[in-house]
Amino acid sequence: MELKEVIGRRRSIRIFASWRPVEREKIQKMLEAARRASCAGNVMNIRAVVIWRDQATKELIDSIKLPISYQQMQTAPVFILWYNEPMAYEGERWVKTVSELVETRRMGVDIEQTITEVKQKLAPGFLMNDPKVTGNSPGAIMDCGQAIAQATLVAYDEGLGSCLMGGPVLGRVGRRLKVPETAVPLALQAVGYPAESWEAGGQTAKPPLEELFSEMEYGKPFTSDPAVVAELERDKLIQTPAPLPWRDAELRALAKATDLDTRLWRDDAFEVLPDDPKSSW
Ligand SMILES: Cc1cc2nc3c(=O)[nH]c(=O)nc-3n(C[C@H](O)[C@H](O)[C@H](O)COP(=O)(O)O)c2cc1C
Repeated sequence: MELKEVIGRRRSIRIFASWRPVEREKIQKMLEAARRASCAGNVMNIRAVVIWRDQATKELIDSIKLPISYQQMQTAPVFILWYNEPMAYEGERWVKTVSELVETRRMGVDIEQTITEVKQKLAPGFLMNDPKVTGNSPGAIMDCGQAIAQATLVAYDEGLGSCLMGGPVLGRVGRRLKVPETAVPLALQAVGYPAESWEAGGQTAKPPLEELFSEMEYGKPFTSDPAVVAELERDKLIQTPAPLPWRDAELRALAKATDLDTRLWRDDAFEVLPDDPKSSW
């Protein structure tokens, strides 16, 4: 599939074919895509733990279930806990990853001169930084977001669907998975083959381009060119918006066929499990 079409087809999938296993190789491809994301100084602070539902303990799955009954929690065969490891920004390590960019000829022209510059001008700042602060800065979190986005697009390219989830359970899932104390869980991603049609009722509506983006100065909207819109429709990046006329019937049929709990809010909403739900959210 072409990249623009993958972007266009990506939409959160919330009802998975729980009976259809996901090939391990497809998850590996997602992780490889995450590993190749751009990130400041190539420090690579993104981390993840892959959870196969059929290999997980009941306690782990119970800790994943949100107090509200999201269908993705009930049906996804795979979950990925994505987390930030701020300690990747530990000073010496940061100097090393930037120096490696120079040594592998990815940055600078003259190796010796650039390494000297790194040591004299960048290293002092890197060595003084507090990884717990720098490693949790907006830039560091953005690096993780880029990695997760790349992995997500590969999932769709491989015919899978996914839904990212934040929420109060991330911390406790992280603890069950024994992630390091320093880890900052960012999102739990449900992954699987969609039980719903890939359209999932249409492309999720977004605010207009002009409302989100400016040109030259805040308040001067970046105006949308209809010819570009037409081109992106042709390339399938822009698709028919939700809801498609048959969406209601699809959802009702799926819920009936799969015996899903479709209530958004359960009576035990926000029940606190014994292992205190602490998270970054
Ligand atoms: C960090 C993050 C957390 C999210 N948390 C949830 C969640 O807890 N439950 C849920 O149903 N969807 C969640 N979503 C999915 C969003 O609701 C969804 O991306 C948004 O509605 C836009 O729809 P789209 O993904 O189809 O474009 C989350 C998405 C992100 C990126």
